Amino acid sequence: MNAVERLGLAALHRIDPETAHGLSLQALRLGLVPLPGLVTSARLESTLAGLRLPNPVGLAAGYDKNAVALAPLVRAGFGFVEVGAATPRPQPGNPRPRLFRLTEDRAVINRFGFNNEGAAAVAARLAARRRGPVPVGLNLGANKDSADRAGDFAAVLAACGPHADFATVNVSSPNTEKLRDLQGPAALAALLSRVMEARAALPCPIPVFLKIAPDLVPDEIAAIAEVAQAAGIDAIIATNTTLAREGLKSASRSEAGGLSGEPLFEKSTRVLALLSQATGGRLPLIGVGGVGSVEQALEKLRAGASAVQLYSALVYRGLSLAADIAHGIDRHLSAAGLAGVAALTGTGRGAWL
Ligand code: FNR
Repeated sequence: MNAVERLGLAALHRIDPETAHGLSLQALRLGLVPLPGLVTSARLESTLAGLRLPNPVGLAAGYDKNAVALAPLVRAGFGFVEVGAATPRPQPGNPRPRLFRLTEDRAVINRFGFNNEGAAAVAARLAARRRGPVPVGLNLGANKDSADRAGDFAAVLAACGPHADFATVNVSSPNTEKLRDLQGPAALAALLSRVMEARAALPCPIPVFLKIAPDLVPDEIAAIAEVAQAAGIDAIIATNTTLAREGLKSASRSEAGGLSGEPLFEKSTRVLALLSQATGGRLPLIGVGGVGSVEQALEKLRAGASAVQLYSALVYRGLSLAADIAHGIDRHLSAAGLAGVAALTGTGRGAWL
């Protein structure tokens, strides 16, 4: 992090978190944030579920819910970018305050509840982007008051899929009541079958990922892995935010919502390793939860991931973290004499089981 970035972050941390979040997006759009451009190398490049990734460090869903900063985000050093969640109809989300910094814990709690401008607005922005080497995907959500949530996921995919490089079925946000019930085997199978129908109807079908919660026991994880594979899901993203609150020091630790950042690292990595064991390497996995350093990104890969995503650490370490981690992975691969990321995937899974 350079001095300008440090000053910028210090200023943002003096104001309300949601306002700061909006300002950071605005600064990106206005070109006020220096961006490294494409970060890649022969060692960093890989193919995941048919997508060519210039590097394995992605932006997790939720930062740019409405796809307003796509052009700068694909030049921010990420190897792939996920926007959303988008729901069929626009919705305001939960009342404010709904975003909290837990600075002493290097963590965040959010209870946004899928605030977004709706699928049509997001589809228009995705359609207007210039396609480039960094894949852009969309996180799919369901409206809070929907009577047919499976139908919502399918509808957002139908509306936005033609303009996205991948889509993620998000049944793991803790902030929409009963959403996570869709992770149960019967509900999940029914939901995925609707989503896969919508995918097949796209002019050009795209990879579909499934994103799961960290608050699952091993049997539930194994059941999800089975259903996802039977449905033809292309990759699983592990994990979303947690409802757990152990070991936190910050004043806001008891706020309702999903916890992300450093305290989520171990829990989400264990879920990732269990998934890797359950799928036996047959399904690509994307590790997310508490990644804030090169070593933590490497640990996700060793636990079974083919790529990682991050969000909360950017709040504390700045956007330059994405490129720093990608370069760090490259240096590690080079020093270890490894040809690519795939040589690390799953090599340290046992330590997490
Ligand atoms: C999120 N996350 C999230 N995930 C998702 O699938 N759809 C979403 O809309 C959101 N929204 C969202 C908002 C905010 C403010 C945060 C902090 C997080 C979860 C995110 O993508 C990621 O899975 C977790 O935050 C864990 O990763 P980090 O933040 O520990 O790197």
